Amino acid sequence: MICPHAAHIRKVNPRDDGTDTGGTNDTLARRILRRGIPYGVPLSDTATEADDPLKGNRGLLFISYQTSISDQFEFLVNRWTNQKNVPKNGGHDPVIGQNGKLGDNRSRQFEIALNDSPSETFSITREWVIPTGGGYFFAPSISALKNVLA
Ligand code: HEM
Repeated sequence: MICPHAAHIRKVNPRDDGTDTGGTNDTLARRILRRGIPYGVPLSDTATEADDPLKGNRGLLFISYQTSISDQFEFLVNRWTNQKNVPKNGGHDPVIGQNGKLGDNRSRQFEIALNDSPSETFSITREWVIPTGGGYFFAPSISALKNVLA
């Protein structure tokens, strides 16, 4: 009732909820360590797109560390945030989820439970986060392992 199943923090960390992949401890294997860095000057609350000197060039450099890119980062994105019915029924992740469709149809849905009434479904037509690029890196680097840490 308090935190919708589609909430970003619940999609990417269902905590001790059972999920489509297993029981209450299974989610521990999906944990990542994050360190995001914002870039670009923030716009004031009253600014419009026309006032924007950076033309929208601001955002977050999202970094996550994990033991397995496929079982953790890619799993969270492909399976849980981009799909409506997993880890629990309730919708796409409205912060980073994508609907898997190419082109202009960016629409995504999520449900909010209301006190004593059936939950209501909301539809959003534009993305909140627009990914612009990415890279995978090995850390610590092989040369650091060989030459420093060994
Ligand atoms: C630009 C994109 C993103 C934005 C704006 C964003 C925003 C947020 C915010 C506001 C929080 C809650 C505050 C916090 O714990 O720091 C959060 C938590 C989190 N995000 Fe994101 N996020 C983004 C991308 C991602 C991606 C791509 C992933 C995973 C693949 C991810 C995984 C997580 C996790 C695991 C948490 C902690 C959840 C918890 O344990 O409560 N985020 N994010």
